[in-house]
Amino acid sequence: MTTLGEHLRIDDRTILVLGQELDVAHDQPDVANAVVHRVGDTVVLVDTGVTDAFRTALKAAIAQVGDFSRALVLTTHGHVDHIGNNDLADELGVPVEHFLPARDLDQMRDPAAYWVHQFSRLVGVVPLEAPPSLAGNKVASLFQPLRPFGATTRTFEELPLERIRIGSVRYTGWTFLDGAVRVLRSQGHCAGHVIVHLRDNGVLHLSDEDNGPCAVMADSDQLKIQTTLSAAATLFEEGEATILTDGHTFTLRRKDEAEAFLDTLLEQGIALHEAALGITEDGVPIRPSAFTTRYTEAVAALGVGGANPNEMFAGMMAINQLRDVGLRPETSGADARWSRAALENPAPVAGMPHGIAILPAAIKMLEWKLQGRDHAPEARS
Ligand SMILES: [Fe+2]
Repeated sequence: MTTLGEHLRIDDRTILVLGQELDVAHDQPDVANAVVHRVGDTVVLVDTGVTDAFRTALKAAIAQVGDFSRALVLTTHGHVDHIGNNDLADELGVPVEHFLPARDLDQMRDPAAYWVHQFSRLVGVVPLEAPPSLAGNKVASLFQPLRPFGATTRTFEELPLERIRIGSVRYTGWTFLDGAVRVLRSQGHCAGHVIVHLRDNGVLHLSDEDNGPCAVMADSDQLKIQTTLSAAATLFEEGEATILTDGHTFTLRRKDEAEAFLDTLLEQGIALHEAALGITEDGVPIRPSAFTTRYTEAVAALGVGGANPNEMFAGMMAINQLRDVGLRPETSGADARWSRAALENPAPVAGMPHGIAILPAAIKMLEWKLQGRDHAPEARS
């Protein structure tokens, strides 16, 4: 059992500051781990967690990695458990830069809306104690104070994109401090997600990409999660990474253990895909609630863990899995049935209109030309 803010020392200039698990029943937010690392005269923070207690622990870690005269803050993604103390950068009394992923900006500006959207997919699928609008606000309200933006905050995407080769793996992303810190685009766990590789000590911080074998969020991408896990395993195989850290595991994983862990996640992902095919194989349309019940049994049978193993996250994962095996909802109703699309060849397309249909088409064409849509923009008056 670890406590919020505990320091896990990696080396004399690197500390993993430990967060805590989510406990909604007791109004306890989850807090993501943060990495504090020093490169020369620059202290680097990867994520800043949330809560005042964690802020204090971060400051203590910063004071223990050696002298610095500059600071660099990197945000792996926009989830509220990772970004609450981003404005700490402005308190350090040194020149600072802060970067975050552009695709997560909206959720950082309005986290309640993001969570309401996540939970709205669960209506009728799993029991919800309150409507999504209330549940989303309730969850978002736990993460205080929430200050994702500081005086110097910019998006990574404002910097030129770089090709970054580590061992045999080719990434795209951004390097800092003469290549000592590599920010690698992963975009699996949520739309903007990045991971961080520290060149000098071989730490690979996956943040939330290794939370579980399957995508949970509405803006997750299962293939990108698997691609990220596969590439990470290769880095460990090749000795380019030696210590695996992430947002919600309160320990360090070294070479063999890290490889085994990553391979297990990949295998579980494949096994859950197979389980989903088994549940849907008879071709009968299925309601997400019924699918989730059986899928959750498969998740339990495989011993799948994850950062937040609860009914809601299982439901979110199940819905993503349904889409991943090729089903889609028949209507937009709550718990509407999902099925495979009918494989009907399309009727021939009529092409340009004939007969009476010419009249409305001619009006549309006239409007189109009057709007100048058939010219290049610069040629329009
Ligand atoms: Fe997280």
